Amino acid sequence: MTGRTCLAIVLAAGEGTRMRSARPKVLHAIAGRSLLAHVLAAIGGAGSTRAAVVVGPDHDAFGAEVRAAYPKADIFVQTERRGTAHAVLAARAAIERGVDDVLVIFGDTPLIRAQTLARLRAALADGAAVVVLGFKPTDPTGYGRLVTDGDRLIRVVEHADASDSERAIPLCNGGLMAFSGKTVLPILDQIGNDNRKHEFYLTDAVAIARAMNLRSVALEVTEDEVRGINTKAQLAQAEAAMQQRLRQAALEAGVTLVAPETVHLAADTELGRDVVIEPYVVFGPGVVVEEGATIRSFSHIHGAHVGKRAIVGPFARLRPGANLGEAVHVGNFVEVKEAQLEAGAKANHLTYIGDARVGEGANVGAGTITCNYDGEAKHRTEIGKGAFIGSNSALVAPVKIGDGAYVGSGSVITNDVPAGSLALGRGRQIVKEGWAKRLRELKSMGKRKQPASD
Ligand code: UD1
Ligand code: MG
Repeated sequence: MTGRTCLAIVLAAGEGTRMRSARPKVLHAIAGRSLLAHVLAAIGGAGSTRAAVVVGPDHDAFGAEVRAAYPKADIFVQTERRGTAHAVLAARAAIERGVDDVLVIFGDTPLIRAQTLARLRAALADGAAVVVLGFKPTDPTGYGRLVTDGDRLIRVVEHADASDSERAIPLCNGGLMAFSGKTVLPILDQIGNDNRKHEFYLTDAVAIARAMNLRSVALEVTEDEVRGINTKAQLAQAEAAMQQRLRQAALEAGVTLVAPETVHLAADTELGRDVVIEPYVVFGPGVVVEEGATIRSFSHIHGAHVGKRAIVGPFARLRPGANLGEAVHVGNFVEVKEAQLEAGAKANHLTYIGDARVGEGANVGAGTITCNYDGEAKHRTEIGKGAFIGSNSALVAPVKIGDGAYVGSGSVITNDVPAGSLALGRGRQIVKEGWAKRLRELKSMGKRKQPASD
């Protein structure tokens, strides 16, 4: 593929009414990433140099998503929905800049793989003018049929326009097509709308190429890869297929998934070698888990970094900006957000650590809360190296606990604690000797009053 330039045009002007959603269809997500971003990721993986996304007139929401997933992509608006060929021509300006390979991909087929796009490009490099990605669906209703003659593709006939014998053809159009940049515009400009739907069909390109003495070929893939999404049920099926793929890749990379089918991954989850994931763990986007770390059951992790040999959970929640160093322990019912826990630090039970730094080897006792929010702004808590925070303490930020300092259990800490010192931020304990005994005596005499407490 070296040396050949490529433009990938993503068609996403569809209305997606069957999703029954306020959100445009291709902005729905599987594995923590929008359908559109999955397609753009496959394009990036196939070595495409440029991308153009064709959107509908009321699709202002797309810009940010496209820029995040593929900063070099251009957005074109198809003002009227008049068919797939018409949609491709909305990106005419991008094609006119000149390119060797033009790929056309539907924005709602998120399972497409970079290798498949590379196969389409290889067929172009081999001299084909048009390449169509075919598949044999379990139910071919609605799909265009690929009419072939030996290894040549003769034409594509849309289901609505097909005869009974054409409808019997098992090989269907998966929707992905590739065109040689040299002939794509002369072909597309000849496409008309003389058909049952009065739409400009991209698939007519095959018969037009043939009339121009140009070669078209079909490549075959499994149904999974070209499965388009139109409904929430299909979205859920695609999620399942994607999860299966991600789990398989993790297992192959040396990750232990004790019960793979219960682990929910994001498309960008990075798991190092010898990481162990116990059953029922959910990963949102942006997670890196380094070598040898263990994520115990029922943990929810999103936008976080887990260092080597760290132990997280069971029942832990790591939110964006949680950064756990080597051998850190974060135990049950602990929530960490926007906080650095340095090597060997421990927070094993019932704790909230937000907007904080916890120094190397520090121990954060059960029930500790960094009170980071005063109702208007967020403030930081610094806990020094080797510090010890007694159970049930509230650290009211902004506040600093020095290296090696102790905070007594049940403290409310509102001022900085110097290194090496002890802070007791609680009332002095009072003991009334014999008080409880006297209370019981009064009760046994049928009296309702309490003994004096001063
Ligand atoms: C299309 C193919 C059919 C193939 C099937 C595979 C054509 C003419 N037909 O049919 O051969 O088997 O996909 O799923 O290409 N779009 C626009 N603007 C338009 C029309 C469509 O952006 O004016 C986009 C849609 O958002 C969608 C894609 O193009 O992403 C395909 O359009 P759709 O209407 O779903 O085509 P099908 O009838 O399914
Ligand atoms: Mg369709």
